[in-house]
Amino acid sequence: MEKIIIKDLFKNMQNFENKEIQVEGWARTVRDSKTFGFIELNDGSYFNNLQIVFNDSLQNFEEIRKLTISSSIKVTGKIILTPDAKQPFEMHATDIQIQNLCTQEYPLQKKRHTFEYLRTIAHLRPRTNTFNAIFRIRSVAAFAIHEYFQNNGYVYLNSPIVTCADCEGSAEMFKLTTLDLDRPLPQKDGQTDFSQDIFGKKAYITGSGQLHGETFAHAFGKIYTFGPTLRSENSNTKTHANEFWMVEPEVCFCDLEELMNIEEDFLKYVVKTVLEKCPEELEFCDKFIENGLIEKLKKVCVSSFTRLDHKDAIDILKKADKEWEFQPEYGEDLAKEHEKYITEYFNGPVFVKNWPKDIKAFYMKLNEDGKTVAAVDLEVPGAGEIMGGSQREEDFEKLFNRMKDLNIDTDELYWYLELRKYGSTVHSGFGLGFERLLMYITGMQNIRDVIPFPRTPGNCDF
Ligand code: 4AD
Ligand code: MG
Repeated sequence: MEKIIIKDLFKNMQNFENKEIQVEGWARTVRDSKTFGFIELNDGSYFNNLQIVFNDSLQNFEEIRKLTISSSIKVTGKIILTPDAKQPFEMHATDIQIQNLCTQEYPLQKKRHTFEYLRTIAHLRPRTNTFNAIFRIRSVAAFAIHEYFQNNGYVYLNSPIVTCADCEGSAEMFKLTTLDLDRPLPQKDGQTDFSQDIFGKKAYITGSGQLHGETFAHAFGKIYTFGPTLRSENSNTKTHANEFWMVEPEVCFCDLEELMNIEEDFLKYVVKTVLEKCPEELEFCDKFIENGLIEKLKKVCVSSFTRLDHKDAIDILKKADKEWEFQPEYGEDLAKEHEKYITEYFNGPVFVKNWPKDIKAFYMKLNEDGKTVAAVDLEVPGAGEIMGGSQREEDFEKLFNRMKDLNIDTDELYWYLELRKYGSTVHSGFGLGFERLLMYITGMQNIRDVIPFPRTPGNCDF
């Protein structure tokens, strides 16, 4: 007997007309009457269920009638096309074998649960329609990201997870040690003596692969990283996680304007691919999570994103007829409420560029005004800042002095500085928060609901 996955049935139903086949999956719902019944079967291969019709000709009919939700079964039967019914075809069962009868305590009975509750059963939530849709989209989007860069000549770099390089600020990096924390730590000059630790110095888990990315960009021209990133910040918000995935391309011979072109092209490609490959999932999200989602995504693919200077964004905010919790100021960062206002004002993604240097990272290129850096954040409605990038300071002296001013260890980062002596280039890169992109694509409002097992302050369950 030929074993078929449900996706193939939906994609080529004609080929299976009146054929007897076998499927294996989980019962999503069971409805029965005295002499017959229906099972909605899902095998994980496809968003929609296969409708199975069974009747009392089955020798175990009484058992099947009592089948519980999420029981795993093997069904043999014939595919019958039903062009006039709600579902395009169904399977008439000739044999149903129960592999595991799901117990009655199974928490996902047929009713709607809150996302908060579903987080407490993270091991089961991928079986719900919502999370099935979200995590298939996540998988498709991840592949599209690789596809975009591979098709455009970038080399995939696996930057290290363990690092001593301080990119976004060591205060936000998790420390990594083999020192015995249950005993007094070895001391030297009144401080912990990390020379006795496994790497002979203080080590961290990476908060960005950018610095290593820049080294490889200076060999391959264009590279990207895509991997887990950890930050120890104690931010309990809907858009921050302590473990998230970041995509970090780095491109030589590329300035800030060209960088924005890449960011825009890249985002459109990923959105377009998800639109093409996940129509069922997106329809579900459109209906139950964010009304108008598909329209929004289609529009993003054809619109050109607004580009404006940080100071012009502040002008718009200052002119707004609004009571702010945080007053917008020229020298300061944008608060969530500001990002929201700006993206709603332009009704789509907005690049905010040329930021005040004091609130941005050490490696960003200083503009001619001496006050701003060539940095750019891409803000989108809902998820806020999804990409953060910049043109890098390519001048050795300027970079060295900036690092000294900010007390950044120039000895530890000598190799990063050397890039500015051995064929330095105008170069730029950005980081995309993968989960924030997924929030934007699916309409989900909480980062905890687009990552399989969220790690956030106070939560490392599962
Ligand atoms: O803006 P960030 O901190 O930039 C960097 O790390 C640069 N080294 C990137 C680069 O130029 N190569 O982080 C980049 C993006 C943010 O725009 C945001 O989308 C995401 O990473 N991000 C987070 N996502 C979830 N949880 C957090 N705690 C995040 N912190 C940053
Ligand atoms: Mg940022």
